[in-house]
Amino acid sequence: IHEDSNIASLSVANEIASLINQKQKQGKHAVLGLATGSTPTKMYDYLVQFHKEGRLSFKNVITFNLDEYFPMEPDSIHSYVRFMNEHLFDHIDIERHNIHIPNGNLNRDEVRKYCEDYEQKIQNVGGLDIQVLGIGRTGHIGFNEPGSALNSKTRLIRLDRVTRLDAASDFFGEENVPKRAITMGVGTIMDAKKIILMAWGEGKSEIIKQAVEGKIRESVPATFLQHHENCEFVLDGAAASSLT
Ligand code: F6R
Repeated sequence: IHEDSNIASLSVANEIASLINQKQKQGKHAVLGLATGSTPTKMYDYLVQFHKEGRLSFKNVITFNLDEYFPMEPDSIHSYVRFMNEHLFDHIDIERHNIHIPNGNLNRDEVRKYCEDYEQKIQNVGGLDIQVLGIGRTGHIGFNEPGSALNSKTRLIRLDRVTRLDAASDFFGEENVPKRAITMGVGTIMDAKKIILMAWGEGKSEIIKQAVEGKIRESVPATFLQHHENCEFVLDGAAASSLT
């Protein structure tokens, strides 16, 4: 629990930077699972700053994003491809071929095979070293909405009404928010060697309490993180304010 989200974001950025530097010394890749949304943006600002100061290179970094709306054109202003370029990738020296973001622009009959391949690609590089997460008011991690199983893998899901309402202002109305998304599964996330979930503000305090102190259950997928051996919640005081 940190004093504010700025200091908290800096601590996460430092942790990611040390992993990248450590792997670089070993001549290895660092494999990062990344999230979009308002929560990780300050942390991405710090990573960009470290790079601009010459302290951090992303040449040895491979990334896999958690999710993308479906359908979604990659160059749409609403796409997570655009989000990641704007907040991180356009400002660092990552190799473009090392970036993976679920493709929201597939035909329905291509999705299943695509999701299997996404899982395979994660496996092929040795799994995720660190998975960064936010949390939705439904308790979703990635877009694993209530009802998602512990062993779920990358797949096409239907977004919860609450999630679509939360996205409505970005899309100029709920009716414009896509009804579906491709997301890594709970199982994909749980396979990461380390998980860092960030949450800021009072609006997240109730769901943080559920996730940390509630009974482990499918109706609040973030509770599954209680099973993980190496999972850290990084919070500001407001997000932590309902914890006992
Ligand atoms: C985004 C994602 C979502 C968000 C969550 C919180 O890639 O997977 O789980 O992390 O909806 O969103 P914000 O950060 O906007 O509150």
